[in-house]
Amino acid sequence: MSSQHWRRNQSKDKFFSESRKLGYRSRSVFKLDEINRKYKILKKPKSILDLGSAPGGWSNYAFEKTKLKHIVANDIEPMKPIPGVHFILGDFTSESIQEEILKVNKSKFDLILSDISNNKTGNNITDQFSFYEIAKNVLEFSKIGLTSSGVLVIKIFIGLGFEEFKKDMDQTFKNVNIFKPNASRPESKETYAIGTKIRYTQNI
Ligand SMILES: C[S@@+](CC[C@H](N)C(=O)[O-])C[C@H]1O[C@@H](n2cnc3c(N)ncnc32)[C@H](O)[C@@H]1O
Repeated sequence: MSSQHWRRNQSKDKFFSESRKLGYRSRSVFKLDEINRKYKILKKPKSILDLGSAPGGWSNYAFEKTKLKHIVANDIEPMKPIPGVHFILGDFTSESIQEEILKVNKSKFDLILSDISNNKTGNNITDQFSFYEIAKNVLEFSKIGLTSSGVLVIKIFIGLGFEEFKKDMDQTFKNVNIFKPNASRPESKETYAIGTKIRYTQNI
């Protein structure tokens, strides 16, 4: 899509204009809002990890809804500070970043959100492959980083790698729901997987 076309699409997009009007950092907030309304994920977590957090829409929303003191956010790109949110800059797939995340929180998370999406090269096969490498990393981390009643919400893309990832989710969680919010563009392959009732967790 050309940048001109993209800008035209953005200005016609009601979620984009609404997010501007309300001062949200991203239109993605509306996706989390829909997920939260349907699955009540922000009702009782005591600690939250927000992966792929920049520019900060989801972290901000999670903080406003919960007023928690334990929200940790991570992105490979910088993010402007949000009161109450501890931001860690770096590639989530790196071991040292994962260690830092666990060290900062001192215990496991009740909710892990991942809205990570990789930079697209235009080659669908390469893009899907590198996306699912990160997604699998998030799923593996959940086995260490989630409490036994914890919830994982992860952005995924339908296409190459999806079926295998869904199987891995099913092996990790007793309940897996696939949900595409209205705010997720219909032409996009993006959707979300929500995993609850983790089958087994590993000690930190
Ligand atoms: C769709 S944006 C997230 C929007 C965010 N949820 C919000 O509401 O503001 C996807 C993010 O994933 C991040 N990302 C991509 N690869 C990453 C990685 N390996 N580790 C951490 N973040 C990554 C990107 O830098 C980008 O900021």
